[in-house]
Amino acid sequence: MNNDQAHEVVSKEKQTRVRVKVPGSTANLGPGFDALGMALNLYAWIDMAIADKTSIHLIGKQMEDIPADKSNLIFKVAQMVFERAGVHHPELEISMYSDIPLTRGLGSSASAIVGALAGANALIGGKLSDDELFQISSSLEKHPDNVGASLFGGIVVAFWDGARAEFIRLEPHPHLEVLVAIPAFQLSTEKARNVLPKQIALNDAVFNLSHSSLLVAALSTGNLDMIRLAMKDKLHQPYRAAMIPGMLHILEHATEHGALGAALSGAGPTMLALVDGRSERKRELEDFLQSTLNKEGIEAETLWLTPCLDGVTVSSLSEGSPKLHQWIDREDRE
Ligand code: HSE
Repeated sequence: MNNDQAHEVVSKEKQTRVRVKVPGSTANLGPGFDALGMALNLYAWIDMAIADKTSIHLIGKQMEDIPADKSNLIFKVAQMVFERAGVHHPELEISMYSDIPLTRGLGSSASAIVGALAGANALIGGKLSDDELFQISSSLEKHPDNVGASLFGGIVVAFWDGARAEFIRLEPHPHLEVLVAIPAFQLSTEKARNVLPKQIALNDAVFNLSHSSLLVAALSTGNLDMIRLAMKDKLHQPYRAAMIPGMLHILEHATEHGALGAALSGAGPTMLALVDGRSERKRELEDFLQSTLNKEGIEAETLWLTPCLDGVTVSSLSEGSPKLHQWIDREDRE
């Protein structure tokens, strides 16, 4: 899959009812602050249909605090698509369900933005290009790492310069797996960005650009052993460490317990380890992450994930299709 064909919409015909499946993601991968993202096989689903009157159905406990009126992010982003495409702003029926934990550093807000863009664009026959969706989502998030991964899948290397975003998508190594330890507490991206310094020393900048470049080279050539040396950061993780007790210990010692490398996932608080799926030390690594966080009094859920190769996908629904709340209970929903 190349940059031009990464995002698939079932049909360029106008749809009246669509179901969007959008992956969550991890950003930064350590040194690639605001530049690297990887899609993960944790998903959000959005049903969107043109309606006579707007109604928004948020399914699941973690959606309880999210507004279900026209201030809803998905509704607002959909209106941006209609405005940009110069079409009438229809009322919408929206349903959403997500397995991506909110405010944990796994790209939940990026997935909502990307899902809303892709769904609304499908309802108007795909008038906006993938590039336009990427530009809109990058400027909404102010960094392209999570949105790029959710849109295009795989690993995305990207920048956003305030006017335009550019990216190249890399195919993840087939044996690359991801262990995440998701703390029970939330940490907003805003809070985790506010602790960062406005300026950094040249030697720290050089450290990060050399390590991030090496990490991209390691990921694109499949040199998994090099990840251990490349996945180090001096731009953001040291400043965020105080908000995630146990993080520095995990970063320093995860490779001694079978990880290829470890990082804070996005702005945190989730900790992430890259793992060779053929490793026989997966249990040991999981115990290490759990026990390190537990010792700090932090409860965490561990999940084994894989990179998601597809970005957002949209399928059309018919009148008889199961409603989202019925469909998410189905075992074969993947
Ligand atoms: N690159 C971003 C950060 C990801 O680390 O703040 C969070 O959205």
